[in-house]
Amino acid sequence: MKEGENTLRVELGRRSYPIYFDGLRQICSHPVDGRIILVVADAVTAQYSGLVTAALTGAKAVSTWVFPAGEASKTLATAAEICQAALRLGCGRDALFIALGGGVAGDLTGFAASIYMRGVDFWQVPTSLLAMVDSSVGGKTGVDLPNGKNLLGTFHQPAAVFIETDFLRTLPVEHMAAGMAEVIKYGVALDGDFFAFLERGPEFLAARGDQDFLRSIIRKSCCLKAGIVARDEFETHGAVRELLNFGHTFGHAVELLSGYRLPHGVAVAWGMTAAGRLAVRLGRWGEAEAVRLQALLAKYRLGREHCGCPGVAAEAVLAAMRHDKKNRSGRLRLVLPAGIGQASIVDDVADADVLAAIREVLHD
Ligand SMILES: NC(=O)c1ccc[n+]([C@@H]2O[C@H](COP(=O)([O-])OP(=O)(O)OC[C@H]3O[C@@H](n4cnc5c(N)ncnc54)[C@H](O)[C@@H]3O)[C@@H](O)[C@H]2O)c1
Ligand SMILES: [Zn+2]
Repeated sequence: MKEGENTLRVELGRRSYPIYFDGLRQICSHPVDGRIILVVADAVTAQYSGLVTAALTGAKAVSTWVFPAGEASKTLATAAEICQAALRLGCGRDALFIALGGGVAGDLTGFAASIYMRGVDFWQVPTSLLAMVDSSVGGKTGVDLPNGKNLLGTFHQPAAVFIETDFLRTLPVEHMAAGMAEVIKYGVALDGDFFAFLERGPEFLAARGDQDFLRSIIRKSCCLKAGIVARDEFETHGAVRELLNFGHTFGHAVELLSGYRLPHGVAVAWGMTAAGRLAVRLGRWGEAEAVRLQALLAKYRLGREHCGCPGVAAEAVLAAMRHDKKNRSGRLRLVLPAGIGQASIVDDVADADVLAAIREVLHD
């Protein structure tokens, strides 16, 4: 991965692509020959689709396709609707799909782009913090099934990522916190210095309006993610990309059990807390480290009072965790911390320990 002042390059051979941190300005300087379908969630349409369309100065034909915001739209049916709309618009194999929105718009549009006429180019224009720091980079696309999240999907790298931090001004507080969960994930799983930087960072409300802080955490997160993706594009069994799933096996389970009421990032924060407690039980790290993690989560509105799952039983969480794609031969594969900035895969944890860790977090 190479760095310039406003650009970072994800190095993947012929699938390499730039991440621009001055997104709107860069969109203006990218001419596009084919038809463009701009896929956008209704919650962001009013604010930003006009700005992006206006920035597409080099484009010949741009059509906007709007879907209802939220995880409930991340389905095969919506992906098929996008493809049908593209067909009606006369999009050929030179078409460009653009995802404008949070992680749902990105995953959905990327998935549709990967299957439309056996694959067309797509751009990511993330508008949520979570999408800026995580989901817009790395090429994982997908949709959910009633049984679980992201059970259908592809690896399809975007042709470019255009990040415009100004878009965060309208992001609801709860989704700002959700994005911070993925930021904290990088600190715990990969980079202790980054974790300490976040500990010294501004409090949540101040952080929301602090453009310098936001820019630096977005840039650092993209840098860490791009580095991992360049080493392990397809999440090989036992290799580094799996570490980015820290908090996710527990998190996906409560996200599903909450009927997607909990935003993905908030569920991941809950999952990191549970994984942190399990790591204490297994002697992988100490109480002091688990407390540091808890304090950092609480600082960014991800403490237990913000990540509750009332009425959920520990056994139900464990049962839902068994659907995780990382599992092999029915054994849970968990990413557990071994220190701040260090994590590894564990696949031999007894159910009793997992249940005890879940109970600690559910009942605390
Ligand atoms: N592909 C990956 O690598 C990857 C990584 C992490 C998460 N994900 C996926 O991402 C999804 C979660 O993403 P998310 O948290 O961005 O959810 P989301 O896309 O549902 O966005 C959250 C909400 O905020 C709204 N919103 C977004 N930007 C806004 C803005 N600037 N102003 C006002 N409202 C705005 C959205 O329309 C939505 O209502 C999940 O489906 C998760 O599985 C994918
Ligand atoms: Zn995630």
